[in-house]
Amino acid sequence: MEATQDKPIPGGNTVRVEFEDGIAWVHLDRPEKRNAMSMEMARDMNAVLDALELDDRCGVIVLTGSGEAFSAGMDLQGFFRASDAVSDVERHRAYRETRAWQWRTLMFYAKPTIAMVNGWCFGGAFTPLICCDLAITDEAATFGLSEINWGIIPGGVVSKAISTLMGDREALYYVMTGEKFDGARAKELGLVNEAVPADRLKARTRELAKVLLEKNPTTLRQARMAYKYAREMNWELAAEYLTAKGDQTTFVDKEKGREKGMVQFLDEKTYKPGLGNYKREGE
Ligand code: COA
Repeated sequence: MEATQDKPIPGGNTVRVEFEDGIAWVHLDRPEKRNAMSMEMARDMNAVLDALELDDRCGVIVLTGSGEAFSAGMDLQGFFRASDAVSDVERHRAYRETRAWQWRTLMFYAKPTIAMVNGWCFGGAFTPLICCDLAITDEAATFGLSEINWGIIPGGVVSKAISTLMGDREALYYVMTGEKFDGARAKELGLVNEAVPADRLKARTRELAKVLLEKNPTTLRQARMAYKYAREMNWELAAEYLTAKGDQTTFVDKEKGREKGMVQFLDEKTYKPGLGNYKREGE
């Protein structure tokens, strides 16, 4: 692996990144504003995600928030009021920059992503939460589609995002009432993989990140992309696409995982794919 120790740490005024053994902990970093997402934060997050995609110090991203919040949603001042006050073209740009990091980039990111929800998670914050591959929350965190409480709809792309994970009855209930709910309920609703006590949140997230870091990164990326694209297709298209994607994975995988797995299971009888990873180079 290329030496990257001297590389600057990406970030900005509103995002803080820490590296730890292949994990990039990406903090939305405006704790005094409960990490409300401003126009500046969109620019910083786009720069950070672009940089981390090519940074060897990052094998998996954990997206979280500094202080008491994951994020209190879109910044009413630094996004809504600020973008109302600029030209139509600048407003268009602010929305484009927000869409870029919150869903387009995250959803199809080259590296695996985990949202770690600590504290408040409101409105617009549901979009990056849902667009991360996996999510873990503090069971006592507070979630809410609070838009209705202040006269707007769950916009951006929040209404679309929640419909991919929540059932219609539950989604409409929270869209229409604006009622808050806790992390344990977020787990029941399918918004997160796990809800754990606050004092286990970081350790459990680290554990999960390490599992991902042990996988063949090429296969892991292809598997994530295959799932995300195939779910938009009908069965016929999905079957053709997945067959082709499987062949492409074998072709681009420098580790030759498929071949190694078969040799180790069928010929050497040294591992069982149902029970764990094949032995990778250097292990
Ligand atoms: N946009 C802009 N500023 C926000 C914000 C948001 N979404 N959420 C919090 N802030 C600011 C507050 O205005 C306050 O700023 P100030 O210190 O300059 O007055 C600061 O962050 C701290 O917020 P405060 O309300 O005092 O913190 P709290 O811990 O008592 O309450 C929340 C936290 C999240 C419950 C509350 O701030 C809140 O309801 N925020 C709005 C959540 C929301 O509806 N988001 C949806 C937007 S799409």
